[in-house]
Amino acid sequence: MAETKTILRALAGEVQDVPPIWMMRQAGRYLPEYRATRAQAGDFLSLCYNPDLATEVTLQPIRRYGFDAAILFADILLVPQALGADLWFVTGEGPRLSTITTQAEFDALKPAMDIHEVLSPIYQTVRNLSQELPSETTLIGFAGAPWTVATYMIAGRGTPDQGPAHALRLENPALFEALISRITAATIDYLSMQIEAGAEVIKIFDSWAGSLPDDAFEKYALEPTRAITRALKERHPGIPVIGFPREAGEKYVGFARATGVDCVALDNSADPDWAARHVQVDGCVQGNLASRHMVTGGQALVDETRQIVQAFSKGPHIFNLGHGITPDADLENVQLMIDTVRGG
Ligand code: CP3
Repeated sequence: MAETKTILRALAGEVQDVPPIWMMRQAGRYLPEYRATRAQAGDFLSLCYNPDLATEVTLQPIRRYGFDAAILFADILLVPQALGADLWFVTGEGPRLSTITTQAEFDALKPAMDIHEVLSPIYQTVRNLSQELPSETTLIGFAGAPWTVATYMIAGRGTPDQGPAHALRLENPALFEALISRITAATIDYLSMQIEAGAEVIKIFDSWAGSLPDDAFEKYALEPTRAITRALKERHPGIPVIGFPREAGEKYVGFARATGVDCVALDNSADPDWAARHVQVDGCVQGNLASRHMVTGGQALVDETRQIVQAFSKGPHIFNLGHGITPDADLENVQLMIDTVRGG
């Protein structure tokens, strides 16, 4: 049977008159219904680990806006937690974790194969979603890329320049590489379980890829994404993978060929005309409207949206933001973006 889901058609390389659309962080605090469910759950992590409520918040943006894809509601930091790191979120500040900077701290982590006990509620959320989503909506599973996850595990928090992770990779490469390998193995198993539960596409978030200099980008962004993609496609032939080496700049060129991903997600610093010529030549691209337009709206939103659609119109394209939507976004601006993509 010919594929009918627009996201899967784009990922298979089909050029469509109207690109399919979804939005990073589409289930989030800009939605009043999300804030209500989040309050019911208590804290963010309780929401992630409650399959009924996580299913509900994943469905909310689909009900309100009819996006072409739903993304599993979870977080990239659940993998470190499943490996034994302590994890908590400080309101208004972000994540905190117990740190991994010594061999003894690394040795205390669990083996990759032991992550499933903690993560089994996430697989239940995926099973629920594959039952409950409309037949035209694609279900995306995800994980963080090893480098990005490692930056949080090493520093114990988000960092503006990933300084502690860069220090460890330069000062103790053996320990750093052991950590990258452990995260890679856990991520392959985690994503494989998401696919078995019903995820139809996998996205790998390498939010801090842009801070790696060339040789380190090759070793710690490109290679782990290639290893994960290869293993998933071996275990689940045909599973499409989206890679997101955020702020990779010139290093977006050739990323799909080098890693085997089916689609490269672009942040909004990539110029669409440039990316159409240098990145879309290798296949599908996703992106890349600046999230601030969801706050500011108006004619600038419409013009910029049309320009992106036009720039990518000759190849396979999935419309998205260049990064996650922010809590101060206006609900009507989201609708205006969707109407502009679908209606011209
Ligand atoms: O996109 C989606 O709707 C799916 C769910 C999703 C979340 N986080 C939910 C979330 C996804 C795909 C992520 C990925 C994620 N998490 C990344 C990679 C993408 C990126 O943004 O660069 C990173 C780096 C994280 C780690 C993380 N989680 C941080 C730094 C924060 C705090 C920042 C913030 O916005 O508060 C989170 C929290 C988080 N993850 C929220 C959501 C909806 C907000 C939590 C809340 O409700 O209070």
